[in-house]
Amino acid sequence: MPTLVLVGVQWGDEGKGKITDFLARQADLIVRYNGGNNAGHTVVVAGQQFKLHLVPSGILYPDKMCIIGNGVVVDPEVLIGELDLLESRGVSTSNLRISSRAHVILPYHRRLDFCEEEAKGENRIGTTCRGIGPAYTDKVARTGIRMAEFVDEEDFRACLARNIAQKNRLFQGVFGVAGMDLEEILPSYLNYSRRLKPLVVDAGPLINRAIDEGKKVLFEGAQGTLLDVDHGTYPYVTSSSPVAAGACVGAGVGPTRIDRVMGVAKAYVTRVGGGPFPTELKDATGEYMRSRGGEYGTTTGRPRRCGWFDAVAGRYAVQVNSLDYLAITKLDVLTGLHTLRLCTAYRYKGEVITEFPASLKVLEACEPVYEEMPGWQEDITRARSYEDLPANARRYIERIEELLGVPAVILGVGPGREETIIRREVF
Ligand code: IMP
Repeated sequence: MPTLVLVGVQWGDEGKGKITDFLARQADLIVRYNGGNNAGHTVVVAGQQFKLHLVPSGILYPDKMCIIGNGVVVDPEVLIGELDLLESRGVSTSNLRISSRAHVILPYHRRLDFCEEEAKGENRIGTTCRGIGPAYTDKVARTGIRMAEFVDEEDFRACLARNIAQKNRLFQGVFGVAGMDLEEILPSYLNYSRRLKPLVVDAGPLINRAIDEGKKVLFEGAQGTLLDVDHGTYPYVTSSSPVAAGACVGAGVGPTRIDRVMGVAKAYVTRVGGGPFPTELKDATGEYMRSRGGEYGTTTGRPRRCGWFDAVAGRYAVQVNSLDYLAITKLDVLTGLHTLRLCTAYRYKGEVITEFPASLKVLEACEPVYEEMPGWQEDITRARSYEDLPANARRYIERIEELLGVPAVILGVGPGREETIIRREVF
């Protein structure tokens, strides 16, 4: 299939980085289409661990073109830091391009993120405080600065002066904190702008041309369906569109150019930050998942909340994204549990519901209806074919396939590139 969108099925952190890295082997072009450095992708290659936030995981292959699409918000300081780090570890970044339509995160966005979270008090979203929400807010309010303006010194100077004046009114008047000084910010950001300028291109036409030429394009989403600003557990969401349709908007291609969509789900569920989570476990089993799965945020280091696989949310993600395939990651984390549970429905005020509710009040009051299955005790990290898995692990996967109605074509049995089972080549 020439074009494939890879999307998170849950609340992010599904292990998309590893699957992107795996699929990128076959791709010519890898395009990141949403989010910013709120994301964190951990990829392990030949025992070396890479933590990427902005640069698509495909960068680890020397011959692949990687694009940061217009739907991404780019913190130039973080991006340059990431590029320097990759280069220092022997990874060439010469094949990276950034869309001229991508918006830029500036220091006032980070401070605003923090001030807004503080002001929300108990109702804080638990953002990553990387300025993501405020940068998207400016984009939609039509006051943002895009890469196109950022790399034009005259434009950038004018836009930055205008925005700092406006944000300072907010900082001082609303939040009661100090304002920012244009002259303090400008010199370093002009340096960043000069450094990034050669990488900035009109990415949409480039991606469309590649598709016309029959090249394989992999669209890589950040975060997950349940964090989508439209389809997620609003307002406990991020400010972008991680869903598959976000790939069209965030890369500049029409929907008819997308051939297939693959959803990545963890074999259990995790969530960072606030918001409802019906299958959350606040007991020893949740702790077992957290410690075995290394469930601490790649970006913020926060412990992730852990829980059983939720097939209600899973079915919802299948529908919202029109998933063709599933990749199920971290199956090995469940090894050693005597009994596994799968949430097949919710109980709300005594009634059984099977649709994922829009109302947070309803979702918060939902109790999971569980089905139990026997676990497995065998180490599965060396399994390389489906048949190598213990029967109970296979049953668990097959039950998820049945509940979601989508085939699980890739299974992750460990963090390494090679710790993967491919049941069907789809890209
Ligand atoms: P923001 O994207 O920093 O505004 O954070 C909004 C919500 O999305 C918070 O609950 C974050 O914890 C969550 N979030 C943002 N990015 C990620 C991610 O890459 N993985 C998991 N959660 C994320």
